[in-house]
Amino acid sequence: MTTAYTDFGAPVRPVDVYPPQEDSHLLISAMTEAGLVPGARVADLCTGSGVVAVAAAAAGAAEVTAFDICPKAVNHARESALAAGVEVSVHRGSWARAIEFAPFDLVVANPPYVPQAPVDDTGSIPIGAGPAQAWNAGADGRLVLDPLCAAAPLLLDEGGTMLVVHSECSDVKRTLSALRANGMRAEVIAQQLIPFGPVMSARARWLMQAGLLAPGSRVERLIVVRADAP
Ligand SMILES: C[S@@+](CC[C@H](N)C(=O)[O-])C[C@H]1O[C@@H](n2cnc3c(N)ncnc32)[C@H](O)[C@@H]1O
Repeated sequence: MTTAYTDFGAPVRPVDVYPPQEDSHLLISAMTEAGLVPGARVADLCTGSGVVAVAAAAAGAAEVTAFDICPKAVNHARESALAAGVEVSVHRGSWARAIEFAPFDLVVANPPYVPQAPVDDTGSIPIGAGPAQAWNAGADGRLVLDPLCAAAPLLLDEGGTMLVVHSECSDVKRTLSALRANGMRAEVIAQQLIPFGPVMSARARWLMQAGLLAPGSRVERLIVVRADAP
């Protein structure tokens, strides 16, 4: 694609920041359809561009607090909130910092969840996929998911809810059982089949060999898990 010089006013595409994708939109629609946002204290744990945090603020959250380890994401999320005319407190740091600000009524997360092959293939993945720290999540894809499930009771107020989106490749059953083992009710409330994006295309063969994706798959299932604190 060629960009015409008349595009001066066009928004800059956040290639250094994870561009909102199917998982972002699936999480936003699950969040708004659950009807839990109006008046809620919301935390967006891996905010990236801030798209989910801004959607929560626009949907009537009482307050939205967002976290990301990437300084460019933090700046981008702040600018997005400003441009949307909503208030979001964006903090630079691990999602685990949210425990300092807890409890929340609603916690939303689109964490990194793609399993990483033993041989680093990051250089072969197109830049439009966003930075590797947005998707790389260790050999089983659970580098953030496991500690997040363990921390859910510390993040949520009584009766609070966590919504987390991830791929079928990062073990949906393990998310559900980890949350249930922590005394929470947990179920899949949304799912979507999507064609492989650039990261999955690069890793599909390895994922199948590793038994993390069904042989012959051409699409990936995204899911949103809802966990409710007692
Ligand atoms: C898949 S992107 C999601 C971005 C955005 N929430 C969305 O839905 O489009 C994951 C984000 O998590 C951030 N991240 C990775 N590890 C993190 C951690 N330990 N704590 C907080 N943020 C983290 C990355 O920088 C990236 O912006």
